[in-house]
Amino acid sequence: MPELPAYPVGLRLAGRRVVVLGGGTVAQRRLPSLIAAGAVVELISPEVTATIEAMADTGEISWARRGYRPGDLADAWYALIATSDPEANEAASAEAERSRVWAVRSDDAAAATAWTPATGHSEGVTVAVLTGQDPRRSAAVRDAVIEGLRDGTLAAPPFRERASGSVALVGGGPGDPDLITVRGRRLLAAADVVVADRLGPRELLDELPPHVEVIDAAKIPYGRAMAQEAINEALVSHAKAGRAVVRLKGGDPYVFGRGMEEAQALAAEGIPVTVVPGISSSISVPAVAGIPVTHRGVAHEFTVVSGHVAPDDSRSLVDWAALARLRGTLVVLMGVERITAIAKALVDHGRDGDTPVAVIQEGTTAAERRLDATLATVGDAVAREGIRPPAVIVIGDVVSVGLGAGR
Ligand SMILES: C[S@@+](CC[C@H](N)C(=O)[O-])C[C@H]1O[C@@H](n2cnc3c(N)ncnc32)[C@H](O)[C@@H]1O
Repeated sequence: MPELPAYPVGLRLAGRRVVVLGGGTVAQRRLPSLIAAGAVVELISPEVTATIEAMADTGEISWARRGYRPGDLADAWYALIATSDPEANEAASAEAERSRVWAVRSDDAAAATAWTPATGHSEGVTVAVLTGQDPRRSAAVRDAVIEGLRDGTLAAPPFRERASGSVALVGGGPGDPDLITVRGRRLLAAADVVVADRLGPRELLDELPPHVEVIDAAKIPYGRAMAQEAINEALVSHAKAGRAVVRLKGGDPYVFGRGMEEAQALAAEGIPVTVVPGISSSISVPAVAGIPVTHRGVAHEFTVVSGHVAPDDSRSLVDWAALARLRGTLVVLMGVERITAIAKALVDHGRDGDTPVAVIQEGTTAAERRLDATLATVGDAVAREGIRPPAVIVIGDVVSVGLGAGR
């Protein structure tokens, strides 16, 4: 028969019996989507992979520990035939044909009555691609479409979060434009107005189309009002003007980011807010510099602290004496200018002066610098080397464990 195109369709399998023959990697790859669709999956195979066994153990599928037998496809709505026994595949395929059960075959696509498309999902959209018998091409087309939907380069009808008159508080990650989340990037691509911080993935702003208004949060004129109030007012006024606003913040919006203040100000005005978490500099900057904040046998905890006020400042909410008693990793943000006082407080309260310290300036960007020192020497070293904010300070033995110590 000449090669005719397949008829694309979406099967609604919830509560319906699906039979999977074979317990190898083909079945393993297909099972999550069947389970996600709510199918009642019965897997028949004498042996299965460890991953499939775990699915059976947790009750996501049922597993009959045997080979295929005629009649196994009775009452099935759909079947995946993927055993390593060609004869069993052939017999099951013939039964499927007789019983009018749509069946996919892993060993012979031409003999199958159904094909599995290359699928991908992006926020409510399912992309399914069939290219005859060329699965690599299907996967490549699928990847291109999903990537385009995710980064906004592929125009798609408006989606929920794009609703005008709303604000998305987007954590942009530490600075490398590749370290924003997929959701954050997509919302950015759909924005009419972007209010951006000094920190974060500023390179992404260059990619925005010309009609997008980009507002530098550091430069909002705020007269007698506090800077944060002025930012809140800008967010409120643009949202009330019916625009899709993105508040692009460095790292995660809620890690020393005043994200909740902005969310509260918007909520008070009845403006819908979407919060998109970001990769905080507190763990990503050390990671990219080669330092794990925990390491087996070295640190069982890490504590992230703001160093924006000195330890002896009456406004400080940090218990430096308690921190000095911890054995684990201490990560200090906003602490470069006060590092001498911070290191002294820790040593005065009992932390060893030889404790390794790394200071990473402008981490994850092309300008990244790393300084290695100890608690006893870090104050002088930072001054001598001219280390400036933004920098993440990592204190603890994990600094010596990492890949890049002393570089
Ligand atoms: C106001 S806090 C915001 C933190 C942010 N919300 C986060 O989760 O990363 C700013 C501080 O984060 C740290 N920081 C942020 N990005 C950084 C980067 N790329 N390199 C080094 N430090 C960074 C610095 O300590 C900086 O002073």
